[in-house]
Amino acid sequence: MKKAWGGRFKEKTASVVESFTESISFDYRLWPYDIQGSIAHARMLARQGIITKQEARQIIDGLKDIAKDIEAGRFKWKKEHEDVHMNIEAELIKRIGPVGGKLHTARSRNDQVALDLRLYLREEIKEILKFIKKLQRIFLRLADRYHNTAMPGYTHLQRAQPVTIGQHMLAYVEMLNRDAERLEDCLKRTDSLPLGACALAGTTLPIDRAYVAELLKFRRISTNSMDAVSDRDFVVEFISSASILMMHLSRLAEELILWSSEEFGFIELPDSFCTGSSIMPQKKNPDVAELIRGKTGRVYGNLIALLTLMKALPLSYNRDMQEDKPPLFDTVDTVKACLEVLTEMMPKVKFNKTHTEAASTGGYSLATDLAEYLVKKGVPFRQAHEITGRIVRYAIEQHKQLNELTLEELKTFSDKIGTDIKGLFELRPALSKRVSLGSTSPEEVKRQIALWRERLK
Ligand code: ARG
Repeated sequence: MKKAWGGRFKEKTASVVESFTESISFDYRLWPYDIQGSIAHARMLARQGIITKQEARQIIDGLKDIAKDIEAGRFKWKKEHEDVHMNIEAELIKRIGPVGGKLHTARSRNDQVALDLRLYLREEIKEILKFIKKLQRIFLRLADRYHNTAMPGYTHLQRAQPVTIGQHMLAYVEMLNRDAERLEDCLKRTDSLPLGACALAGTTLPIDRAYVAELLKFRRISTNSMDAVSDRDFVVEFISSASILMMHLSRLAEELILWSSEEFGFIELPDSFCTGSSIMPQKKNPDVAELIRGKTGRVYGNLIALLTLMKALPLSYNRDMQEDKPPLFDTVDTVKACLEVLTEMMPKVKFNKTHTEAASTGGYSLATDLAEYLVKKGVPFRQAHEITGRIVRYAIEQHKQLNELTLEELKTFSDKIGTDIKGLFELRPALSKRVSLGSTSPEEVKRQIALWRERLK
């Protein structure tokens, strides 16, 4: 088969090289963007008088026909044509004759592939943002349902202080919001038109880049043609934002795995989202969460692949950059799959209130409340901490919880302790008393939920 660039070559490409250099096996999925970009380019060429209106019409009709065939699964991608760009162009020329060869005027595959990638990623980021919002709303509903339910809050995975499940759910709303902000920021730099950079140095032909930007709804136009064809920052930024997002999803997954274990017993995962064991009949495994945790590693790998790919490339385009696509596509697919499965599973997660509340009071987790009680009586915090520590040690030795100590016992540690200590170690008042902004009290959680509802409208 004759190559589009065959003119300079005496020998035909070795078949091993064709297989080695092709990218059609993975970049075919850019076809809708390739065609969209080509149609805009053809319209601009005609408007500038570089090709005639009639030639543009033929090219555009031909491209639309090809799109129909690809859509219907009738199109045969050929690795002899290397990549998606040349497969479509070769087919166009086959269908409409030599006039099809005018499409590539004032364009190179270098700016074309950069354009396709940007159009593709712009769509996908918007899709991912929608998923994130949906998941945030699910966490908001969970926060609302459990705004007044206590669970142990942990530091070092040791019981620290009781918290409301509502607040724990809101923590994920916050994390996801930062993910959305990062992606929106990355979207700004993705949304820039590289077409017109041509191979690297621009063109002698009188093109109108602003018109192409308008047709393709780009907010910006690249202002340095060398940078335009060699820049993959937007891909790196996207995968790094996706890595942080996956880190969050993996932390959630880890919590779901822990909480659903018999040891914790805090949640029941829906049967329809768990799998069994082929040997142990009693098993119900949290595979969805485990796979989300596992797939996080893949996305991190993709980030390192991209950074390493780009790190020593001289300007401008280098063929190495063809390797940007598999990690990018894999990241998009993985992130979307994880978000989708979570949006289905999370609404069905049931907290076991009896368990979480019973666990909330154990472990001397209201000791800080005792220290703060003393602070309110004028004891310097460091001293209050020391006194409380001694009380806790005493309680442990007596095999008692803090609320099981008598007033007489407590008084031996500080004469500031009086009858008003009664009720200090009760869970619900203890939660409600945490009134500082962003704290765990059901009232503050309710207030935060209302704020988020407004923000996520
Ligand atoms: N398939 C190539 C890629 O993905 C398209 C650009 C090729 N450009 C070139 N000069 N060979 O990067």
